[in-house]
Amino acid sequence: MPKRSKSSERWLQRQRKDYFVRKAQDGGQVSRAHYKLEQIDQRFQLLSARKRVLELGAAPGGWTQYLESKLTRGFLIAVDPLPITRGGRCRAIEGYAGEEDVHAQIEELLADQQLDLVLSDMAPNISGVRAVDQARAMDLADIALQACEDWLRSGGDLAVKAFQGEGLDAWVVALRQRFEQVNMMKPKASRPESREVFVVAKRFKERSSSA
Ligand SMILES: C[S@@+](CC[C@H](N)C(=O)[O-])C[C@H]1O[C@@H](n2cnc3c(N)ncnc32)[C@H](O)[C@@H]1O
Repeated sequence: MPKRSKSSERWLQRQRKDYFVRKAQDGGQVSRAHYKLEQIDQRFQLLSARKRVLELGAAPGGWTQYLESKLTRGFLIAVDPLPITRGGRCRAIEGYAGEEDVHAQIEELLADQQLDLVLSDMAPNISGVRAVDQARAMDLADIALQACEDWLRSGGDLAVKAFQGEGLDAWVVALRQRFEQVNMMKPKASRPESREVFVVAKRFKERSSSA
């Protein structure tokens, strides 16, 4: 058997010990991420049966699985360049949010309907250069916000993964202009050592007529 590198050995050990990884495996969940969304939802009451939801960064499908169990009468559009494990309630789009063809596919599925909720768990491929990775993460947050500008109804909500660092505070200030209530949350299921946080914005404001 090939010898594992120290870092992959450390990753494996962490996975074995991790409470939420074991819980996901025992409970038949796709990934530990499932519990992050569950905890965000429990705190902010984002989901109910009839909601129309866009999920950005959906693979491998932990959030999707949770969403499908909740959205029994609404609909779910999930986007990721990677394969998403999903059931029959989800319409999946394979591609990168922010790109034109994906935008067109979302428009087609929506057929003039608006969304009640935009979710993003998108994360960039990590380069290891902190400033570069942070800039990419902020670009993904902007893509999620643009999805709100394009399709979210007035009064709708957004929950987006972000990373603490350069640009986040200013981004949150800008978000407060567009939503009535903005909070940050670090779910227990998020690894404590990670810079990941979730920004939850409620009640999207009316677009001005000049916008
Ligand atoms: C942390 S994972 C998402 C985990 C997922 N929420 C779950 O519960 O299983 C981040 C995902 O973001 C995706 N991603 C990165 N950039 C993206 C983009 N522009 N559009 C859509 N997905 C993107 C990656 O392919 C990756 O699958």
